[in-house]
Amino acid sequence: MIKLGVLISGRGSNLEAILDASERKEIPAEVAVVISDRADAFGLERARKHNIPTAVINSNELEIVKVLKKYKVDLVCLAGYMKIVGKALLEAYQGKMINIHPALLPSFPGLHSQRQALEHGVKVSGVTVHFVDAGCDTGPIIFQRAVPVFENDTEETLSERILTEEHKAYPEAIRLFATGKLKLEGRRVKIT
Ligand code: GRF
Repeated sequence: MIKLGVLISGRGSNLEAILDASERKEIPAEVAVVISDRADAFGLERARKHNIPTAVINSNELEIVKVLKKYKVDLVCLAGYMKIVGKALLEAYQGKMINIHPALLPSFPGLHSQRQALEHGVKVSGVTVHFVDAGCDTGPIIFQRAVPVFENDTEETLSERILTEEHKAYPEAIRLFATGKLKLEGRRVKIT
């Protein structure tokens, strides 16, 4: 059983999907601590409902690393965490830190990916789970799931369709990591 530290900034629906998968024993992982950079993140309430310890740390990464170490975290999961990760977190957790992004990277990194995808006119978008590096959504890709874009889609309907896939993809990526199935070779992630 590995221990997860989940970093959030807002709604926390991916956090909830991870908590549910863990409680249903679908993944060999438990959430040890949830850290938010914002005190008003709704995800903090979700964590408290599941009796998970929480911390609010605005930007002091050394403090974040201290808390993650205190809870003996094996894997850091960024779930709607709106900050670019810096040196302290990378030094402590590179290769043990993953993120979910609502587009098929390297297309549409950064904010409002679903809107970017619609404005570009792509017919397929999706979800990417990747290891975190120093860039914005640039780290080695673990896997991707495609989601169709329909002609009458709005940012909301496309986001909703992608989010449904995110909630399946995140626990799946955690399961692969926790069972030692991910092998990082340069930029490529092999699933063994
Ligand atoms: C998700 O779409 C995630 O892919 C992106 O931010 C959103 C967070 O949603 N990085 P939630 O806070 O997990 O509900």
